[in-house]
Amino acid sequence: MVQRVELPESLDGNTILVAGAAGFVPSYVSEFYLKLGARVIGLDNFITGSRSNIELLSKYDKFEFHECNIYESLPDFSKTKIDYIFSLASPASPIDFKEIPLEIMRVNSEGTRFLLELAKEKKARFLEASTSEVYGDPEIHPQREEYVGCVNPIGPRSCYDESKRFAEALTMSYHRRYGVDTRIIRIFNTYGPRMRPDDGRVIPNFINQAMAGDDITVYGDGSQTRSFCFVTDLVNAIHNVMFSKDHTPFNCGNPDEYTILDTAETIKKFLTSESKLAFKGLPEDDPKRRRPNIDKLQSVSDYEPLVSFEDGIKQTAEYFQSLSK
Ligand SMILES: NC(=O)c1ccc[n+]([C@@H]2O[C@H](COP(=O)([O-])OP(=O)(O)OC[C@H]3O[C@@H](n4cnc5c(N)ncnc54)[C@H](O)[C@@H]3O)[C@@H](O)[C@H]2O)c1
Repeated sequence: MVQRVELPESLDGNTILVAGAAGFVPSYVSEFYLKLGARVIGLDNFITGSRSNIELLSKYDKFEFHECNIYESLPDFSKTKIDYIFSLASPASPIDFKEIPLEIMRVNSEGTRFLLELAKEKKARFLEASTSEVYGDPEIHPQREEYVGCVNPIGPRSCYDESKRFAEALTMSYHRRYGVDTRIIRIFNTYGPRMRPDDGRVIPNFINQAMAGDDITVYGDGSQTRSFCFVTDLVNAIHNVMFSKDHTPFNCGNPDEYTILDTAETIKKFLTSESKLAFKGLPEDDPKRRRPNIDKLQSVSDYEPLVSFEDGIKQTAEYFQSLSK
């Protein structure tokens, strides 16, 4: 029998640890739980995160922050009750894969292990943020959770893809060996305000090029596809998974699929930009098709992405505009 998600009305009295709180997605997750009444403890070493996100979260009385590198050590939590742990601390953009591959591998392996040990000690529920990259360049489409992937273990993206696969294996091992109450999400491309404008991912690239009137860089012929989820929709999916009863992975994203060419044209139209398209060679191991199958999450919850692509792009463009003022 399918066990339905039961969402709490309030988390007052609960403590939530968010690893990576200064980052794009984790800052929204932190804010969501602060608004639900929880005490939120954020951890970050700012390798890709931003101090302005911590300033924003610090406006909430129940937010507490520790600057630390989670693969070296965690703060002393011996006297702290912790109910939920979100393992969200990992750089996630292709620029990072080139510049900080070892930091990525360490945070997803050693960092995840520290957080799992803490979950075991505190009897806290633990959620690992994995990624659609565990599917690699997929041979089946759209990707369902049972698909085990097609990943190049030595390619330029492997520091990320393989360390996330390891993080999933570690999470399942803590669940099987020690009974830790774990959840795993596989996040598909997510975008929105608070992304780094220069992080190299397709939406910030296209928006910033379109707003500046510069050429929009399309890699390959632009026929490769992606699905884009607005960040508040992702947070809603993450919340549903945390309160599901299932330890195996859930895809989280928006199944609307666009070619890269369509994405560029659509962004130009939404932002009434005169930019032209400029084509460049396809990077190595670039996935040809990406679209989540979210039937599993929808079979246990009422999850539905709500923010349209147009609205999401406009909100993100306004954010990037506000940065340049
Ligand atoms: N954004 C997406 O489209 C996407 C897609 C798939 C998976 N994810 C996953 O979601 C999570 C958040 O991604 P994001 O896009 O918000 O990235 P992000 O880089 O904005 O956030 C990650 C945060 O983790 C922090 N961090 C990294 N290493 C750390 C360490 N050793 N110690 C302490 N803090 C550390 C960074 O400083 C940053 O603030 C990551 O686990 C990522 O792999 C994101």
